Amino acid sequence: MHREDFPMLKQDIIYFDNGATTFKPKSVIEAMNDYYSNYSANAHRGDYDISYKVDVNYENTRNKVAKFINANTEEIVFTSGATESLNIIVNGFFKQNLEAGDEVLITLSEHASNVLPWFKLAKTNSVIIKYIELDKNLHVTLNNLKKSITPNTRVISLAGITNVVGDERPIKEICEFAHNNNIFVIVDGAQSVPHTKTDVKELDCDFLAFSAHKMCGPTGVGVLYGKYELLESIEPINLGGGMNESFDSVDDVYLKDVPIRLEAGTQNIAGVIGLGATIDYLNKIGMDNIKIYEIKLKKYLIEKLKNIPHINVINEECDSGIVAFNVDGIFAQDVAYYLNKYHICVRAGNHCAKILKKAIGVKNTVRISLYFYNTESEIDKLVDLLSNKERIISEMI
Ligand code: ALA
Repeated sequence: MHREDFPMLKQDIIYFDNGATTFKPKSVIEAMNDYYSNYSANAHRGDYDISYKVDVNYENTRNKVAKFINANTEEIVFTSGATESLNIIVNGFFKQNLEAGDEVLITLSEHASNVLPWFKLAKTNSVIIKYIELDKNLHVTLNNLKKSITPNTRVISLAGITNVVGDERPIKEICEFAHNNNIFVIVDGAQSVPHTKTDVKELDCDFLAFSAHKMCGPTGVGVLYGKYELLESIEPINLGGGMNESFDSVDDVYLKDVPIRLEAGTQNIAGVIGLGATIDYLNKIGMDNIKIYEIKLKKYLIEKLKNIPHINVINEECDSGIVAFNVDGIFAQDVAYYLNKYHICVRAGNHCAKILKKAIGVKNTVRISLYFYNTESEIDKLVDLLSNKERIISEMI
């Protein structure tokens, strides 16, 4: 769908690495060019027309993002991406609120951004990281989650959709159960917000993190959502211009309210304006349409791959457009290298989910991550190239 909107798709290329980043439509590129060409001033600092225009567009994006995920405007903080958002949540909130022996629940299929900040907190605050057992389809079930809960469980931190096995977690049910037990829930939305409708009020998650560049937006900008009272108690990690109300030479510092308090220094203004255009673009297509289309495409891909005897699909039962597989006896990176010869971009390796191998038994996989601009005929070309193992072997050398 909508292929004509993407300059990158004019190239002779088949792009199946949308979990890593997505292509940008013209409207997003133009919105950023417009800022750089026509009103390239700073935000929240100038008393002149072009600066005022920046303020309006910057804050309009905050409104658009809030509406997009059904949050309140003051609950949206702009960050550099999901990674920074998660680091702020862990180091700005939970570092102050967790004590030795408190338990944090994650899974083996989390991305590094939702593992490493917790590992650090385990060292500094002596909190304990525990893993919810995945079922045979690599899913998180409420039953398995309940089995992991102890009186010390304080936080559950999960991807909405994981980046390698592509399972969608039952976040709403998890939040309901967690909140009945005074447990916080953080959602890493990097792979879910771009592909499925997200309503933070309905989910009732405490925090949500996501990146613009995985949803047709610019790189270097992302969102931290938090319930207002939780955002308010985040200790700012960055201090500087824009976020303070006043200070004097004896260290009497007054900070602004959130969200501005958490946006120190000049922000990625072009990125935020690009994110505003991104939200407009996705809204025009409709998140429900995106999801329906991707699931249909994924089913088409799985059916084809299943018919190839030398292909082992790791996550047949996933609920998203992410498909991970291996070709028997061939190193994942060699498969990617072979496909690249035919201008097909896939990701191979451990995909930043380095502890997943404990759950799936293999370290590296080839990953296809679809988006709404992929087509069945692109999949046909991929499948045709993968179906002849001898050809892969002879051409990868
Ligand atoms: N997190 C990104 C991916 O899964 C980079 O590819």
